Amino acid sequence: MNFDEALFGRRSVRRYEQRRVAGDMIARLIEAAEAAPSAGNLRARKYIIVVGTEMKRVLALASFSQEHVKAAPVAIVVCADVDRSSAMYGDRGSLYAIQDASAATMCLLLAAHALGLGACWTGAFDDALVREALGLVERVLPVAVVSVGWPAETPSAPPRRDLEEMARWVK
Ligand SMILES: Cc1cc2nc3c(=O)[nH]c(=O)nc-3n(C[C@H](O)[C@H](O)[C@H](O)COP(=O)(O)O)c2cc1C
Repeated sequence: MNFDEALFGRRSVRRYEQRRVAGDMIARLIEAAEAAPSAGNLRARKYIIVVGTEMKRVLALASFSQEHVKAAPVAIVVCADVDRSSAMYGDRGSLYAIQDASAATMCLLLAAHALGLGACWTGAFDDALVREALGLVERVLPVAVVSVGWPAETPSAPPRRDLEEMARWVK
């Protein structure tokens, strides 16, 4: 898969085959996520790999009953480790940790696509419920619940904006 296919061919996939995703593929996704840039190279992010039916059900409920979180064979919760970044960057560390986790999530999504898997970044969830379910300590923030599995749908690309609408040149 070339760069354009990886970047422009990726879609949010929300329907999955009931087929297991091999452990080494999950490991590859985390490895790819960790290829993302990181403020000060502190890697202020953590990954929680959820494969249990009951915990996926709880995560789906916490995500306002988004079915794909429960139906996916795997859900990977990407978290920002604020203390890890704040130790060096103070208040700015919370923003950096969220950016670290977001950049990692994007790399994870691209890697999933490159492996032929489908995935969806789920950002709509009740923070407190996810935190409680996963037993996250106070300054570890869930940033994305990524459902992952073998795709059972081929979504079409959403409309994109024109360059003029979203960017401006400054001299
Ligand atoms: C920060 C963020 C939060 C998102 N939250 C959700 C979500 O809660 N549920 C969902 O189904 N998709 C969610 N998405 C996926 C978007 O709906 C999707 O990326 C967008 O519609 C564009 O489609 P594409 O990913 O196929 O290009 C989220 C994406 C981002 C970046």
